[in-house]
Amino acid sequence: MFLYGGDYNPEQWKEEKEILGEDLRLMDEAHVNTVTLGVFAWSELEPREGEYDFSFFDETIDRLFQSGKKVILATPSGARPHWMADKYPEVLRTQENGLSLRFGGRHNHCYTSPVYREKVRAIDEQLARRYANHPAVIAWHISNEFSGECYCALCRDAFRRYLRSRYGSIGALNRAYWSKFWSHTYDDFSQIDPPGASGENSVPALVLDWRRFVTYQTVDFMKEEIAAVRKYATHLPVTTNMMPGYYGLDYQKFAEHLDIISWDNYPGWNAPEHLHEAAFSAFWHDFFRSLKGKAYYLMESAPGWVNWKQVNKLQRPGVNRMAALQAVAHGSESVLYFQWRASRGGTEKFHGAIVGHGGTSDTRVFREVSATGSALETLGEISGSQTAPARVAILFDWENMWALEGTRAFMQNKDYRAAVLSCYEALWQQAVACDIVHPHADLSRYSLVIAVWQYMTDKKTEENLTSYVERGGTLVAAGFLGMADENDLCHLGGFPGGTLKEVFGICNEETDALFPEERVALTWNGERYEAGGYCELLHLKGAQALGWYDSEFYAGMPCVTVHGYGRGRAYYQAFGVGGKFQKDFLGYLLAQCRIPFCLPDAQTLPDGVTAHRRIGEDAAYLFVENYSAQAQEVALPDGCVDLESKKSTRRLTVEPFDVRVFRCRR
Ligand code: GLA
Ligand code: ZN
Repeated sequence: MFLYGGDYNPEQWKEEKEILGEDLRLMDEAHVNTVTLGVFAWSELEPREGEYDFSFFDETIDRLFQSGKKVILATPSGARPHWMADKYPEVLRTQENGLSLRFGGRHNHCYTSPVYREKVRAIDEQLARRYANHPAVIAWHISNEFSGECYCALCRDAFRRYLRSRYGSIGALNRAYWSKFWSHTYDDFSQIDPPGASGENSVPALVLDWRRFVTYQTVDFMKEEIAAVRKYATHLPVTTNMMPGYYGLDYQKFAEHLDIISWDNYPGWNAPEHLHEAAFSAFWHDFFRSLKGKAYYLMESAPGWVNWKQVNKLQRPGVNRMAALQAVAHGSESVLYFQWRASRGGTEKFHGAIVGHGGTSDTRVFREVSATGSALETLGEISGSQTAPARVAILFDWENMWALEGTRAFMQNKDYRAAVLSCYEALWQQAVACDIVHPHADLSRYSLVIAVWQYMTDKKTEENLTSYVERGGTLVAAGFLGMADENDLCHLGGFPGGTLKEVFGICNEETDALFPEERVALTWNGERYEAGGYCELLHLKGAQALGWYDSEFYAGMPCVTVHGYGRGRAYYQAFGVGGKFQKDFLGYLLAQCRIPFCLPDAQTLPDGVTAHRRIGEDAAYLFVENYSAQAQEVALPDGCVDLESKKSTRRLTVEPFDVRVFRCRR
């Protein structure tokens, strides 16, 4: 069965004795079977240093168990008690400008501080000893949305140690940093400070290493927490809740330490860019599934609205079910919300919840949540199945994003995530299964690999992409390919650097950046299109031109190319991604590579309609999703039976914001 429920903070209601019983009753009414407990409960669990009080949690977990609920138990390190910050100020964060923060907020802690690590380890071990074998507890939720960075002396020293082990000698670091530029040569590791506005901000490789270090240190902190909860029991899976595309942490480095990936999804449903947000949400579902290539948890989502966007729109009727089934379509084994009951005070008191301040089930949101829970029970046989294997992959690379976005060149505003997403969106509109993987990943199972703005190519990326094409893969690269190595040193001898030059058979000599409203005309496949963003001026070095610029001084130069290399082919797109060209071009490549679509008319679906498949032991499941506010007509493959209505049909009308789920042949 699917896990259904969400964040639960009963400690806020401890004095209101009747609430716990009321919650359990309402949870049954909402078809809730799982809660995430204890995310911010540290001051409740350890009210004074070393004095633990588990009485309330004992009772709560027992009663949850008695009423058939599962518990995902959190470690409370996302926010610390006041006494700790007062006694050990080092646990708090220091800002880049040197200001040490006072107690307040959450996530305000130093991941290096030995005291903080010791205090976290102690409470985690207490929790593990007490609850790891409780029959209600099914998983550990490590901390909460790891994020942020600290510039205290402890972190600075740890950064220096990190650099020393990365480079070995200061000479090697100087070469990697090209530090003769502006006379920045270091004499010793002790001179190195974290980069920042008030200090060093002109050594790109230093900035890159700092970001690597922040990920390294956060992962290290997480590993200590994992070791602590595993001390008393090794059977419980561990997860931590991540955020869609959080810039500051390279999530791909977290995956190997976790048993289950989980993430928090708050797209702007019903905002003016609603359909784009649906694709955004789909992209991150695919990203998080791809981290371990298997089922994951949707750990948080909004049951109705949030309180932190510029405009906090209500989710329209049906959107609750639609968002839940989108998660399941992409391979989630859970639909969990933030939050069960709205808090009475605090900064999130007006954040949507399943139970609002009225305290009843007689609300629109509660009814929708309950109907979704009931639908997930009906669809229970899908739980445990896998998503259909993807034959297309899009590359995603944090270090590349940090390097390219930080590079002072082309346009200052280079949004890597948006660029990758616009390619993804073109696939999403054509109902094609897609993985999102790191450029070092094993690419052999994919027929088509898409490299968007892969500016940074280290040796491993270069070799991996080269051998992928050599062995018969189709690789398409769009923009800025192979310009720098892992230290953001430019590749010499022409772009793309190294063997990629031979793979693509092109040389990219210059890049013309366009002002936002500027367009350059081009022709591809006999049709006229417009390029925006930037135009790269390519020379053919063996490749064949498929498209040409039609305006500007570079009219007549190639802008879409293909080159046979080994047993495969490498395509290049020299101008900004997105729009009609992207859909047409990727559609053409999907057909070239004979990629299977999830629906018969996949390449001409109405706006906002897409589909996904999961494969079970003896059946496949087809999800037909309509994110638009209009009813849409879709043709189905033969032999599909609607799992809820039990009807079978060839032409389907999908209601606005609805997802229909079919059992069909494998
Ligand atoms: C995040 C946090 C939650 C809560 C929600 C609100 O995902 O993990 O604690 O603050 O946002 O949307
Ligand atoms: Zn610190």
